Amino acid sequence: MRIRRVSGDERLTTSFPLQSYAFDKSPTEQAVSAHYREFLPYHSGNHTLVAEEDGVTLAAASAIPMQQNVRGMVLPMAGVAGVATHPLARRRGFVRALLNQLLEEMRDEGNPVSALYPFRPSFYARFGYVSLPQHRSATFSPDGLGDLLRADLPGELRWRRIADGYADLRALTLRLLDERHGFAVFPDFRAVSLRDDRKWVVTAHVDGEVAGALSYRIDDHLGELSADTLLHTGPRGRALLLQFLARHADQVDRVKLGLLPGETPELWADDIRVATTADTRSAGSNAPMARVLSLDGLEGIAAGPVAITVDVVDDALLGGRYHLDGTSGTLAVDRSDAPAAVSLTAAGLSALVYGVLDPAEITLRGLGTVPVEAAEALRVLFPPRPPYVFAEF
Ligand SMILES: CC(C)(COP(=O)(O)OP(=O)(O)OC[C@H]1O[C@@H](n2cnc3c(N)ncnc32)[C@H](O)[C@@H]1OP(=O)(O)O)[C@@H](O)C(=O)NCCC(=O)NCCS
Repeated sequence: MRIRRVSGDERLTTSFPLQSYAFDKSPTEQAVSAHYREFLPYHSGNHTLVAEEDGVTLAAASAIPMQQNVRGMVLPMAGVAGVATHPLARRRGFVRALLNQLLEEMRDEGNPVSALYPFRPSFYARFGYVSLPQHRSATFSPDGLGDLLRADLPGELRWRRIADGYADLRALTLRLLDERHGFAVFPDFRAVSLRDDRKWVVTAHVDGEVAGALSYRIDDHLGELSADTLLHTGPRGRALLLQFLARHADQVDRVKLGLLPGETPELWADDIRVATTADTRSAGSNAPMARVLSLDGLEGIAAGPVAITVDVVDDALLGGRYHLDGTSGTLAVDRSDAPAAVSLTAAGLSALVYGVLDPAEITLRGLGTVPVEAAEALRVLFPPRPPYVFAEF
């Protein structure tokens, strides 16, 4: 087996056919090549590796150079995608070899973290990833927002095709990237693919700033208005967008949209009747996962006032002993020879950094050994802080 990096037009004959077989409907040859060419620019900056035998591509895996907020600091993040093996070459270790090399190369290129949407979480748990909270969505009739129709709200709305409103939508996601733990954005070369989507976008503008945005499509008259996440910077932007949705009471039966964390849509209006769900049951709806690729690269993220020495075990990328010191309010990382207070797998460490598991759960889940005193220190160092992995645009 030979592993090599591919780019440009070479993707058309190497990684794309495997990905297309794995993820698309069975197409005709003509449709395939047109489809590939259209998508080529959106992959231009990806780090793509393929595994070959006798000149035949048997597996592919890519990393998208993204950015993610981890405890207040925006870091380069490797978004893993397009992982696929030739149907006749599965279960022969190709993806294991590819992923190990891809993650090492992405770490060496300066990405301290990686995230992905798994086809099966236990598969990526073997590679040190830990599950993060699933997005919640709300479904309600716009009728229930009737109160808002009469409200005199500060600011204004703009309603456009997404191609025309793209700059405002992008500006808002970049602002939220700075503000929200876990928030992630695609690089420009990929995010622009959104302009070609056949969607509408409504943006809320308050005091000269984009304070909210909702991209959506309507499936049918009296059907569903199906929206991406209701993005906003606070109640004013959100209220303008909800007022916009209220004006669709006679046009659609229901609205379905994604929620930022902490939203309580049952409080948006007196008569709203809403179902809020976090679904990991239907096909293709697994929660996102993430892992740390380099602890040194996390220097500077917010941390609590305590220091502790940890062993990271069973991981080629992270294995070793580290002294983690949050006494200055941000994380300082040093190699150490002092005895370690805890031992953590890569997934255990990632769970603490992302703020998704309590240290006591690390032991219970088999992600490390954390004695009681050390658990308290780790709670202080990495207080629970569930991330919201937004990665739509
Ligand atoms: C899933 C897929 C990428 C795995 O590739 P592969 O080359 O067969 O994987 P490997 O042989 O390198 O297996 C790596 C490890 O995962 C395990 N594994 C492989 N496929 C698995 C599956 N479907 N479920 C759970 N574990 C699996 C293997 O047993 C192996 O474990 P081990 O190293 O401890 O023995 C491949 O089956 C595929 O292309 N599927 C369709 C597309 C897809 O779902 N891609 C994933 C997108 S996120």
